[in-house]
This record gives sequence, C-alpha cells and structure tokens, in this order.
Amino acid sequence: MDHPLVLGIETSCDDTACAVLDGAGRVLSSVVSSQLAAHRPYGGVVPEIASREHLANWPRVSAEALERAGVAIQDVEVVAATRGPGLVGALLVGLSIGKAIAFAGARPFHAVHHLEGHLYSPFLRPPGDPEPPGPIPSRFVGLVLSGGHSSLFAVEEGAVSTLGETRDDAIGEVFDKVGKRLGLPYPQGPRVDELAERGVPGAHRFPVSRSGDTLDFSYSGLKSQALLEIERLERSLGPIDLGAGGEPPQAALDLLAAFRESAVGQVLDRLDRLHQRRPFSLLAVSGGAAANRLLRRLLPGWAAGHEVDLRMVPLVYSGDNAAMIANAALLRHRRGLADDPFAAEAESRIPL
Ligand code: KG4
Ligand code: ZN
Repeated sequence: MDHPLVLGIETSCDDTACAVLDGAGRVLSSVVSSQLAAHRPYGGVVPEIASREHLANWPRVSAEALERAGVAIQDVEVVAATRGPGLVGALLVGLSIGKAIAFAGARPFHAVHHLEGHLYSPFLRPPGDPEPPGPIPSRFVGLVLSGGHSSLFAVEEGAVSTLGETRDDAIGEVFDKVGKRLGLPYPQGPRVDELAERGVPGAHRFPVSRSGDTLDFSYSGLKSQALLEIERLERSLGPIDLGAGGEPPQAALDLLAAFRESAVGQVLDRLDRLHQRRPFSLLAVSGGAAANRLLRRLLPGWAAGHEVDLRMVPLVYSGDNAAMIANAALLRHRRGLADDPFAAEAESRIPL
C-alpha cells in the first residue's frame, strides 16, 4: 500500500460519503449513503434534514469505508473534507468531523472545494482497481455538469481558470425542475433521461440558448420553454403525472426527448466554440449530469471529430462521493499544501 493514506469526507448536499485512498491515488474504498428516502416526501433536498441525516449516518458510513479499505482510523495520514459550495449546515457536519480527526491525530488537513473534487474525478480508477491512476495531465479542459454547476475550466500546471459558468439554472437542476413539474419523484434528472430515451425529439423544437459571446451556460430559457410546452400539452391531454405509474403519454416522452436534446446541445455548442477559440487536446467530463445517456453517446463522436482525448468520469464517481475529495486533497498534499483545521470554514458559495 502506497503512503500516505487519505481519508475523504463529503457532506455538501444529500449524500453522506467517506472514502480511503492510498498515496498512489488508488481508491481502497468509497462509501456513499444516499438520503433520498428522507427527502423524497418533500420533492427536493430539505437542508435541516440533510444535516441531521449526515450526523446520523456518519458512524456507519465511516466504519464501512475503513473496514472495506482494511485500515483503522489511526492509520489515516491525511484528512480531507469538503468546505463548499453546498448547504452550510450539511457542509459543517463533514467539515467539523474532518477537522476533529485531523486535530486529534495531528494529521495534515485539507478543506477541499467540491468542484475541484469533480474536476479531477475523471482520472480516478474504480474502487478496488489494483492499477494506480497515471499522473494527472498538466493541461486539460474540465467540464463539470452537476445539480449546482455547469462549468468549463482550463487546468494548466495545477492552476485552474474558469472559461464558462452557470448563468442561472445548472444543467442537472433544470432536469430536476422539468421532471418535478411532470410529477416525478426527486431526483428527477436520471428519470427524465431514462424517459427521454423513449421519445422522438423532432415533435418539439427547443432552440439551444446562447449566452452572447461568452461560454457561460444558461438553462432558464429552456426551462421556461419546456414548462410552457407541458402546459400546452396538458390543455389537450389533461393533467400529466409521470410519477403516478402507468404508461406515460408518447407526447410527454417526445417533449422530454426534445428538452434533453437541447440541454445536451448547449454543452456541445460551448465545446465547439471553445475549441474554435483555443483548441485543446484533452477533455475531462464530470459531475452528476455527466451520467446523462445522450451526452455519453454524443461526446465520443464530438471528441473524435475534434481530435480531442476524452476522459469521462467513471459512473461510480459521477454523483457526489468522497473519493473525489480525497483525490483532490492528495494532489494538494503532493504539492506541499495543507490547511489549518481551525481556520477552515464552510461556505455555501465560493469560486474555484
Ligand atoms: O454532482 P451531483 O451528484 O451533485 C451536485 O454537486 O449537484 O449532481 C446531481 C445532479 C442532479 O441535478 C441530478 O438530477 C443530475 O445530476 N443527474 C442527471 C442525470 N443523473 C444525475 N441529469 C441528467 N441526466 C442524468 N442521467
Ligand atoms: Zn457535486
């Protein structure tokens, strides 16, 4: 086992996660406990419930992560926890636990930016893979698509700069909102994606939003158009409730297919325009919405057509997890960085 052993903690939203990585970046264990059942009755994440659930879940989640990795807490040499962005009450649980473990064991501590975790996650290997990941390339473009962010980053020699950002709704968020309007239970994104597979997009036309000359992402226009179309459909079909079971109307499936095509089309549009402005040769795609089926089908062709190497995050790490947090901390540790556990604070919004 390569040293140092890194313990990662992630509690920024509704997943309680703990992971152990060795010093070569192998994932020895990655445990994610979802709080779906607790939030489902409310149709979305309730911050207060998320914090309480993190506290209740942590003993079991951490014990399982240590056991699967075959290590004891005393063996951990570096401790990392997410400091934000996210729900402050939820972040505070994991961050406080991480600070306490680091302080009690006099271990180096890293307060990790959640997006930095996602950004490098395409380079992780699946849990238990004996092969260590290769070194992280020094230059690449990172595309992070999640419930809170749709972002393009340039990574150059460890320095990260933002090329395009979320203007309004993030891509995952707009999948969730459109699905919620159709009666789907939280989280709606994966279910909308699944249903869109059965639709024919041609029946509706949702244009791809441009954000002027910038590479920023904007999904609020698409959201409004989709909601208007749902209203129009309901005027002819009556109320649509895709959560009620039964066969969904084909017209609703077609609408979702067109919505998804436009949402993914915007991602390809930004990549096209970025590549025209400043050609790049490596693209690393991550975040919960990177699990989108259409995106995963279209990106390899886009990359091949532009002579770009594509690294898609392994599906096990697309959603929130602690392996990506431990991994980002390991990269920082190798560069000689560390944070003062007493100074680290949870923050709901912080730029990368
Ligand atoms: O990265 P993540 O787990 O949490 C955040 O940091 O936000 O991303 C969760 C988001 C949710 O909005 C979820 O609906 C969306 O990713 N998502 C998807 C798919 N799977 C998850 N969106 C579109 N298609 C999917 N297959
Ligand atoms: Zn995330």
